[in-house]
Amino acid sequence: MAKFNLSVNNKAMSVDVDADTPLLWVLRDHLNLVGTKFGCGLAQCGACTVHLNGTATRSCLLPVSQVGANKVTTIEGLSEKGDHPVQLAWDEVDVAQCGYCQSGQIMQAAALLKRNPSPTDADIDAAMTNICRCGTHFRMRKAIHLAAKKGVKR
Ligand code: FES
Ligand code: FES
Repeated sequence: MAKFNLSVNNKAMSVDVDADTPLLWVLRDHLNLVGTKFGCGLAQCGACTVHLNGTATRSCLLPVSQVGANKVTTIEGLSEKGDHPVQLAWDEVDVAQCGYCQSGQIMQAAALLKRNPSPTDADIDAAMTNICRCGTHFRMRKAIHLAAKKGVKR
C-alpha cells in the first residue's frame, strides 16, 4: 500500500492503496464516486470513461500510480448541476435506455466536443467507440449535434 495524492473533480484527494489499483476502483471504492461504471475491465467497452486533463480515458486498466498530477474528472464533476451542454442535450433527446453505459458515453462526447466543437457524423462515429448494448448510438449522435449547437466551453 502507498499513499497517492490525486486531483479529482478539482479537489485534492488522497488514497492509501496498492500502486496497481485501477483508477476506476479508487474512484468507486475509495472515493465513493460511483457514477463511473465497470463493464468489461479490458479497456474495451468505455463504461469506465473519465477525463484525464480533459482527454477521455478508460479508467479500468489505468493504475493509480500512473495518474500523478493529471486532473481527473468524473461524471460527478463534469458540471455543477448536471447542466453541461452534453447532459442537457442527452436529456432533451432522451438518449438513455438502461443507462449503464451512459456516464461513459457522456464523458466521451464531452471530450470530443472540447477538441472538436462542431463534429461531423463521421467525426462522431470515429470518436464514440464506447459500447451501448441498448443501441442508443443514433440518439447519441443527434444529442452531440444538439450539444454542439448549445456550445461547449473549450
Ligand atoms: S470497464 Fe473499462 S473499458 Fe470496459
Ligand atoms: S443505455 Fe443501456 S447499455 Fe447503453
